[in-house]
Amino acid sequence: MGKDVIVACDFSSKQAVMEFLDKFTEEKPYVKIGMELFYAEGPSIVREIKARGHKIFLDLKLCDIPNTVKKAMSVLSSLDVDMTNLHASGTIEMMQAALEGLTRPDGTRPLLIAVTQLTSTSEERMREQLLIDRPLDEVVMHYAENARKAGLDGVVCSPLESGKVHGRCSDGFLTVTPGVRFADGDVGDQVRVTTPAKAKELGSDYIVVGRPITAADDPVAAYRRCVSEFVG
Ligand code: C5P
Repeated sequence: MGKDVIVACDFSSKQAVMEFLDKFTEEKPYVKIGMELFYAEGPSIVREIKARGHKIFLDLKLCDIPNTVKKAMSVLSSLDVDMTNLHASGTIEMMQAALEGLTRPDGTRPLLIAVTQLTSTSEERMREQLLIDRPLDEVVMHYAENARKAGLDGVVCSPLESGKVHGRCSDGFLTVTPGVRFADGDVGDQVRVTTPAKAKELGSDYIVVGRPITAADDPVAAYRRCVSEFVG
């Protein structure tokens, strides 16, 4: 599986995302479409970006009863996305149902990645609100193992956790990692950040990069810098 840079297109309208993608006349970056853009524009935004030749990670983080997730995944699969995700907290049964729903009649399917614990969930909140007493790190690794047992392709995690996830689950189990910043760039609201080069060294399979590219004066140059640091 080749390493790639996924650009988080966190825009709220079709016009904004298309204006951004129009800047790329040579490359076709892998695009992450999140809830904001998907709920604003609907499935047509996925079809239009796909028709321009981009690969798509549809980041909708599903979590519901297995039957509902299976049916929703079947719809997303027919949109021809390349990668999508769900919450591992929905249980192994839900993740297995998701995989069934995602698998097309010809046996192909998009990659399916699990969110373990959101980075906004602290150990204290987990203990006090969710009544989970184990260390956060242990919970993240356990959820990653559940995702692997269910047959998923990988997890979203910090580049700093990539090595541990690979060790616990397997080298081929994908780590899709946000929290990436250039050494000389703005950290913004991300707390634990690594550079694209460091993410490569730590074994990330995909880096998800938003504002360092979308808010750059020259987004194409910033994207190229990410690719050259991460993919080489
Ligand atoms: O702009 P920035 O590079 O911080 O964007 C990172 C992207 O990755 C955003 O779309 C954000 O929602 C997403 N993400 C994250 N941390 C997670 C999961 C997803 O930053 N744990």
